[in-house]
Amino acid sequence: MVTRKDFPSDFVWGSSTASYQIEGAHDQDGRGLSIWDAFSHTPGKILNGETGDVTCDHYHRYREDCALMKQAGFTAYRFSTSWSRVMPEGRGAVNEAGLDFYDRLVDELLANGVAPWVCLYHWDLPLALHENGLGWTSRDIVPLFADYAGLMAKRLGDRVTHWATINEPGVLAIMGYVFGIHAPGISDYGAWLDMAHNLNLSHGAAVRRLRADLPGTAKVGAVPNIQPVVPASDTEADRHAAALLDAAWNRAFADPVYLGAYDPLMRRQLGDRVRPGDEEAIHTKLDFFGLNHYSPNYAAAADNDFGWRMTEPPPGVETTLMGWHVSPDAFRDTLIHVSKTYGCPIYVTENGVADEAVPGPDGKVDDPIRVHFLDRYLGALVEARAAGADVRGYLVWSMMDNFEWAMGYKTRFGITHVDFKTQKRTPKASYHWLASLTGANGTG
Ligand code: FCB
Repeated sequence: MVTRKDFPSDFVWGSSTASYQIEGAHDQDGRGLSIWDAFSHTPGKILNGETGDVTCDHYHRYREDCALMKQAGFTAYRFSTSWSRVMPEGRGAVNEAGLDFYDRLVDELLANGVAPWVCLYHWDLPLALHENGLGWTSRDIVPLFADYAGLMAKRLGDRVTHWATINEPGVLAIMGYVFGIHAPGISDYGAWLDMAHNLNLSHGAAVRRLRADLPGTAKVGAVPNIQPVVPASDTEADRHAAALLDAAWNRAFADPVYLGAYDPLMRRQLGDRVRPGDEEAIHTKLDFFGLNHYSPNYAAAADNDFGWRMTEPPPGVETTLMGWHVSPDAFRDTLIHVSKTYGCPIYVTENGVADEAVPGPDGKVDDPIRVHFLDRYLGALVEARAAGADVRGYLVWSMMDNFEWAMGYKTRFGITHVDFKTQKRTPKASYHWLASLTGANGTG
């Protein structure tokens, strides 16, 4: 097992969440609706018809949640702000009560010794923008996202030192605009290409606004999800499909954002969507690479516009409740690859595993699957560091069980159990184990 001494003393330990997945209070204090409110209320979209209307009720219970972070010995917390909570229509009028909530949250975190890391967008686009033709498929969203970034920077920039733009653009693009299993439920090749490029342009515009509105000491980064793509078979066709999915999932965002140019496979597909000057507008120097990673992906050739389809992991490999391949080796290799390719300090901003652990008769929550997973993935991180990868922190997904998108509340990713009927929080065995690594529980 990894122990505390495997990590440098300045290694950052923390946890991650996202606004729609934990806040609840979906219709309170002037919050506008997001595409996830509309999507989760559409029959048939979410397992068991569940929604994020209440979820962890973090909007009201954030004090208790911050105290749990402190007790775990965490010094960082990445959360996302809800665009429609602070700008109900996505542009124009500002909702002061929404901003007040993030003020209170940031102050509470700081009072608990936890540094707030703000992510501006974790998939909950203001519904009004989407319905008015100003969603991600429209290039007109770019200045609107920058305005929202500026609003948050002006309000929280005196206290928040770490900023990120868009959580996992590759995943949100593929789940929401290719498979249509996430909001807004679109499945269209052209729409996917339009929005992918607009996500990148919005990132670039937002970073420029953040730099203008934040103190010079602020750290700004992006949060791509990098998952290596393995061909389903060793045929030329499947190898090409894997390269196409790698371009779509991994490189479509990380390359232009960190390197300043699309890779050729993505560039060819984007065609004249990329105007002169666009790649320069997307590319800015960033202070960190927020890496989300869960597993390798598998791809096979397909006779569709995309040229690929995702396939199951090969038979016999260990998988999680989500069906994702457990491969610490792939994590180690990804960390080394990202460090070499993108040349930026890495913070792992998401990694974790789903299970269904619930409290036992003694009230304790034993989650051996998670402890075993985290131990092996952190071991891989230690190996990557030994091989020269510049990995400076680990923020586990997730601080607490929450609304897991299309899977509703079935798949639990938390290190803290949440009873969604009573809202009781119970730190799981994995929470206590992580606390031994941070030194919070006096062991490790
Ligand atoms: C990531 C998402 C996060 C959560 C985890 C399990 O792709 O960013 O919100 O759903 O997967």
